[in-house]
Amino acid sequence: MKTETNPDLIVYFRGEYVPLREARVGILTHALHYGTGVFEGIRGYWDDAGQQLFLMRPVDHYRRWRQNCGILRISVPPPAEQLAEITVELIRRNAFRTDIYVRPIAWKCAERIGVSTDDEDAFAIVALPFGEYLPSDNGLHAGISSWRRIDDNAIPARAKICGAYVNSALASDDARREGFDEAILLNESGHVAEGATCNLFMLRKGKLITPPVTENVLEGITRDTIMTLAQLELALHVVERPIDRSELYICDELFLTGTAVGIAPVVRVDHRPVKDGSVGTVSRDLRRMYSDAALGRLSAYRKWVLPVGSEKQEPELHAASLAETTV
Ligand SMILES: Cc1ncc(COP(=O)(O)O)c(C=O)c1O
Repeated sequence: MKTETNPDLIVYFRGEYVPLREARVGILTHALHYGTGVFEGIRGYWDDAGQQLFLMRPVDHYRRWRQNCGILRISVPPPAEQLAEITVELIRRNAFRTDIYVRPIAWKCAERIGVSTDDEDAFAIVALPFGEYLPSDNGLHAGISSWRRIDDNAIPARAKICGAYVNSALASDDARREGFDEAILLNESGHVAEGATCNLFMLRKGKLITPPVTENVLEGITRDTIMTLAQLELALHVVERPIDRSELYICDELFLTGTAVGIAPVVRVDHRPVKDGSVGTVSRDLRRMYSDAALGRLSAYRKWVLPVGSEKQEPELHAASLAETTV
C-alpha cells in the first residue's frame, strides 16, 4: 500500500484525536514483537458530483473487527456504531475530498519481553487519502504461490491478525519479483484459498464459485457484497465449494475481491490466459455494480453506505446504514 503519510494527518489514537506525529508506540510493545494485533480496512469513496464521501459498510467492518479482536482477547470497548461515528469525525477533521482508506488497528500494548498475553490493549484508527491499490482495469496476471495459506489451527486466516500477514507478505513479495500482479495461495489441503490480500471467485459453467469460509480464507465483506449482487442482480447461482488449482486454468472468468483491490479481474494465471485473456462480462458487470453501490447510487443497497457530508452534520447512522447484510 503506497500512501503519502502526512505527519499533520489527524488520527484517533488511544481515545484522542491527535496528529500522526504524536501517535507513537514503544519499541517493547508486545504486538511489535509477536504480531498480536488485529487490523481492519474500510474504504471511503469521494463523490465529486454530490460533494460527499461514502464509507462502504463501516459498521459491518467494525463488527468483524471487534469479533476478530476477541480471538486474540483484545478488547475494543466502543460498539461498532460508535466506531463508525469516530471515523466520521476523523474524516471531517481531516477534511478529505478524495477516496480514502481507513485502517483501524487494535493491539496488545504491554511493553515487556514475554509472549504470553495480558489484558493491556490499545486501539487506533487512521484514515488516509488512497487511490487504486492494484491497477486492474485491463485485468491482472496472478501466480500460484509456493507459500501455503496459514491454517486455522496455526493462526486463523479468517481474522486480520497482524502476525498472519507475514504469510501474505511472503507470497506477495515473491509474486511481484516473479512479475505477477498478485499471488494466489493454496491451503494445506492443496485447494485454492485466496489472494494475498483478497478473496477469489471463479465463473465455471454459468456458476459463480468461491471457496467456503472453512478453507482458510478471510471472511471478506466484499466477498459477501459480491455474492449478494451476483445472486440478486445477475441471477447467478453462487456456490461455495473447494476449488482445485487446475480449475483456475480452465475457468471462464476469474476475479479477486477486497476492500483495497475492489473487484479485480484476473486475465492470466501462471502464464495461461483465462478464457481468451480479456476481462469477462460478469467480472465487468459486478465491478461496475460494486462501484455504483459504493457511491450510494443503487437505492436497494444504500443501506451499505454511510454518507459523510463535508459540513458539520449528524451522520446518517440510521437503522438502514447499520443493517448487517449477508446473503
Ligand atoms: C487475506 C485477505 N483476504 C481477503 C480480503 C478481503 O476482505 P474484505 O473484502 O473484507 O476487505 C483481505 C482484505 O482485507 C485480505 O487481507
